[in-house]
Amino acid sequence: MEETTEERKKRFRQMSQNALSLDIAFIGVANGLFPAIQEANSLKAEDLSSRTGMDRDYLVRWLDAAYAFGYLEESSPGCFHLSPDGEAMCPDMPDTLMPVAVGAVLSAHMAERAAGCMRTGERPGEVVLGERKSILPWFGSMIEANFAPLFSGQILPKLSIFGEVDARSGRVVDLGCGNGWYLLSLAKRFPCLKGVGLDGFGENIRQASEKSKREGFGDRIRFVEGDIRHYPLEEPVDVFVMNRALHHVWSDRETVFSFFRKHLSSQGAVVIWEPAWPESREDLRDPVRRPLAFQGLSEHVQGNRLLSPREIVEAFSEIGFSSTILSFANGNESVVVARPGK
Ligand SMILES: C[S@@+](CC[C@H](N)C(=O)[O-])C[C@H]1O[C@@H](n2cnc3c(N)ncnc32)[C@H](O)[C@@H]1O
Repeated sequence: MEETTEERKKRFRQMSQNALSLDIAFIGVANGLFPAIQEANSLKAEDLSSRTGMDRDYLVRWLDAAYAFGYLEESSPGCFHLSPDGEAMCPDMPDTLMPVAVGAVLSAHMAERAAGCMRTGERPGEVVLGERKSILPWFGSMIEANFAPLFSGQILPKLSIFGEVDARSGRVVDLGCGNGWYLLSLAKRFPCLKGVGLDGFGENIRQASEKSKREGFGDRIRFVEGDIRHYPLEEPVDVFVMNRALHHVWSDRETVFSFFRKHLSSQGAVVIWEPAWPESREDLRDPVRRPLAFQGLSEHVQGNRLLSPREIVEAFSEIGFSSTILSFANGNESVVVARPGK
């Protein structure tokens, strides 16, 4: 039966409420409100203000809204504790929902930029990610929380190369390493493996270096600020990894792929993880792929384009490497493992 106008209005209002709910959650995430309430167990606006340094009057309004959207329960008049949804917004909780809230507000920002740039065709580049001061520090942990469980649970068990490299105390270079989570999880799993992470964004390198030191990997895993395309390497590399970074430098792929060919050891491999742009437009309609369609637009604002696994394999073939495509998350994520030789 066809949907009535009233039913359609109701459906859209529900979507709008869902967006508002994530907006409220983002405010709590960005200002450390959820962990502060969790730590106190139960508190009032004044206590939350002294714990977080935030303005009391803003907090009064945020507490009302977070209560309305079910992130908080009222313990006694004006005194709140976290509901299960509020607990799930604490960034350090296992399976945290923090990246959903951060991603929602980042998407709104990207939508606004796309709307403004469309007339002129301007593509401001990756600077757009740094335009919102409250989102910027969350970028690395958002990606980590979104993808680290998939990596350790499903991807890593399929990648034998890291065990091989560990056995010969070899070296992994992560190009576009973000906050360093990938290299650090390899270091935890493989005790002899050494690694260098390179990223062009100073805040990422600061967070990654701090984490490496804090977790006791400072002697094996280093992070360096620099451009993927001009990284001076003295010794051959056993594994190059690039996670969600190749599409950022695809317009300069000749430089990047000849860099792989020049610096990879003969026993080595390149492991590329990218969102998998589908070959057919119809696939984007699948609800699990819709976020990819939005990302396609958001990457365009940043001067990038998402890649199909086939394009990556072809680029490797041009430098004489053979590749295997591994597919994850209902085909949304692909890992291409390439080695020298046909
Ligand atoms: C989507 S993020 C992925 C980060 C990380 N690999 C991860 O999985 O969390 C892409 C990263 O590539 C970095 N990047 C993009 N172009 C770069 C370039 N030319 N040189 C160095 N880093 C670059 C960005 O700073 C960003 O951290």
